[in-house]
Amino acid sequence: MSFHIRDRYLYCEGINVKDLQNAVQDSPFYLYSAAQLRANVAAYAEALAGLPARISYAVKANGNLTLLRILRNLGCGATLVSGNELRLALLAGFDPADMMFNGNGKRRDEVALAVQHGVTVNIDSEFDLEHIAAASHAAAARGAARPVDVLLRVNPDIRPDVHPYVATGMRDSKFGIRAEQLPWFLDRLKGEPLLRLVGLHCHLGSTIKDVQVFYDATILMGDLTSSIRQQGFELRYLNLGGGLGIDYERTGEMPTPQALLDALRGQLPDDLTLIVEPGRSIVGNAGVLICRVIGVKRNGDKHFIVTDGSMAALIRPSLYGAYHHIGFIEPVDGELQVFDIVGPVCESADFLGKARMLPTPHEDTGLVVYDAGAYGYAMSSSYNLQLRPAEYLVDGDRVMQIRRAETFEDVALAQSPLSVIMPQ
Ligand SMILES: Cc1ncc(COP(=O)(O)O)c(C=O)c1O
Repeated sequence: MSFHIRDRYLYCEGINVKDLQNAVQDSPFYLYSAAQLRANVAAYAEALAGLPARISYAVKANGNLTLLRILRNLGCGATLVSGNELRLALLAGFDPADMMFNGNGKRRDEVALAVQHGVTVNIDSEFDLEHIAAASHAAAARGAARPVDVLLRVNPDIRPDVHPYVATGMRDSKFGIRAEQLPWFLDRLKGEPLLRLVGLHCHLGSTIKDVQVFYDATILMGDLTSSIRQQGFELRYLNLGGGLGIDYERTGEMPTPQALLDALRGQLPDDLTLIVEPGRSIVGNAGVLICRVIGVKRNGDKHFIVTDGSMAALIRPSLYGAYHHIGFIEPVDGELQVFDIVGPVCESADFLGKARMLPTPHEDTGLVVYDAGAYGYAMSSSYNLQLRPAEYLVDGDRVMQIRRAETFEDVALAQSPLSVIMPQ
């Protein structure tokens, strides 16, 4: 069992989280469960059983090096969206042959890095194709002539019914190539022998609750694959991206990887390896944010619990109005009230949860924000000089610090000494 309540205390596997909070200096901090991470990968592996398929974990969701190493050891590949993510994936030991490089704005140096390591690259636009072609020519000129495997990222114009900021596959989105533009890309690729088109890619968005949209995408992408194959391209992969939601609201109704794959199974074209790129559904419920209550206050009818965790540590509530379940890590017996749970950042948008019925805590009480493993630390900032939190990993009865907290010195040293650039 990963996160669970026993005798009114929160446990992560075999660890009493209050004991851990008392044992470490850091607050807030992220806490992950290795068992939950393994269970989430196993759920995908079981759902994909019998299919030629690859789980390509989306590093953007959580790029902690220790978690990446665990995921690599569990057999995952890595989906990347920047050159630095590529470097980190190499450091974590991923084989470049198991990496996919995505993005609508890859810089030339990032494309060159991917080409240098033989990473498969997704083409997102006309300029992206030209940059990848130029990088392949430059590599050939250096005597490193091997074809670059590329996928075309298709914009399928499917509305996934999620927050607009996490919908990526709609007509007006900045991502991918509209189907009617594909002939130009195919013609252009025919003239580039160093680019080898090996498949199609799409990514509909994130926090998706309805597997029907994946079914629709599979039909569309299958049809496109067939028609592109008829032009002589030997497509081997269909990459359907990530996007499966997790049960933030605790309704018990979120589709599982099995439900997702059941929806797709009969629709996949023959002789294709399916690639899925889950991020959130691998790490989301494997992590929580542990905070301390600084105090409780009241403004008119409104009651606030003010914690040391804020939008700087976890921005999803402020950015998307996202819901995270919130509780205490220890027994609290104060009066039940409806609270907004807010941080110390000087913004009215700084909240972790709104209108939650909770017992009134005393100062220093431990508070937990659940399901914070994905896009939590990864999107954190040091706004207001709230320094980025530490990260800890529980594996059975063992706890490891897997990232130290940012320090004031980290921030201050990056700004000194000043250097004069111009005039030289
Ligand atoms: C191309 C691509 N693949 C995979 C993902 C992972 O999505 P999720 O974390 O929702 O599974 C993303 C995230 O937006 C993405 O942009």
